[in-house]
Amino acid sequence: MKKNRKILLIGGSGNLGTSIIKSRLFKNLYFPAKKNLNLTSRKSIRKILNNHKFDLVINCAAMASILDCERNVTKAINVNIGGTSNLVKEILRHEINYKRKIKLIHISSDGVYPSQKGNYSERGPLGPYNVYGWTKLASEFVVSLVNKHVIIRTRFFDKEKIKFRKSANDIFTSNIEVNDLVEAIKMISLKSFIGVINVGSKRRSDYVAYKWFKNNLKPCKRKDITKNLNVNLAKDSSMNLNLFNKVKKNL
Ligand SMILES: NC(=O)c1ccc[n+]([C@@H]2O[C@H](COP(=O)([O-])OP(=O)(O)OC[C@H]3O[C@@H](n4cnc5c(N)ncnc54)[C@H](OP(=O)(O)O)[C@@H]3O)[C@@H](O)[C@H]2O)c1
Repeated sequence: MKKNRKILLIGGSGNLGTSIIKSRLFKNLYFPAKKNLNLTSRKSIRKILNNHKFDLVINCAAMASILDCERNVTKAINVNIGGTSNLVKEILRHEINYKRKIKLIHISSDGVYPSQKGNYSERGPLGPYNVYGWTKLASEFVVSLVNKHVIIRTRFFDKEKIKFRKSANDIFTSNIEVNDLVEAIKMISLKSFIGVINVGSKRRSDYVAYKWFKNNLKPCKRKDITKNLNVNLAKDSSMNLNLFNKVKKNL
């Protein structure tokens, strides 16, 4: 592992990106705004890669709203699949031109799993259940073309931003608090691990996960949330975390 590695964070203005920056866990972190690095513009990616010679790229940029992806499938494809493809093409090009490798950590989603039965492991069945999930799965295939890639399947929340008053006690996930996710990304970035990895906390209902941080939260049912939405939501997207625990301990 190179000392003083240079890191590019894409999506630094988003929920996860902001937490990564605030954590100060990553030194030599460069986080351009979307106007300077837009995934839909290969030229903008190329310019920044060439100017800075990064060792690690952390890609947190995406069209991350499930509802926005349903409403605008073309944009979801352009950003989540096309944008990721542009990034991968530019990393591959840079690696050939400058004879140096870049590690790419790409944030994916538990939404690539069928999300009905839970305990999904990295090598188990895949089966997205909405537009967002399909675009995230497609992005994973493209990212796999980079030699040193890590694909993190996750779902996270920010304990400071729990705005809703009710939460479902029959939706189960491995939702992880964003600061714990940032620590996990740091840990994984320092390991030699390459491939797909689930990152989350132990299985629990949304209600139980959020109630811990919001005392006055009321329980509700999944159907109360989905009845006014034109989109599928997970029933049980909990993930098997054996690999994550193993990587934490040794690899
Ligand atoms: N939130 C979750 O629970 C969850 C769960 C599983 C996986 N994820 C994944 O985790 C990652 C981060 O999610 P998040 O909640 O932090 O998302 P977010 O808050 O919506 O942030 C998305 C980020 O992507 C940037 N972006 C969007 N289009 C871009 C483009 N064309 N070029 C460059 N940057 C672009 C946005 O920039 P602007 O602000 O300038 O638009 C923003 O910084 C995403 O990959 C998401 O799919 C999220």
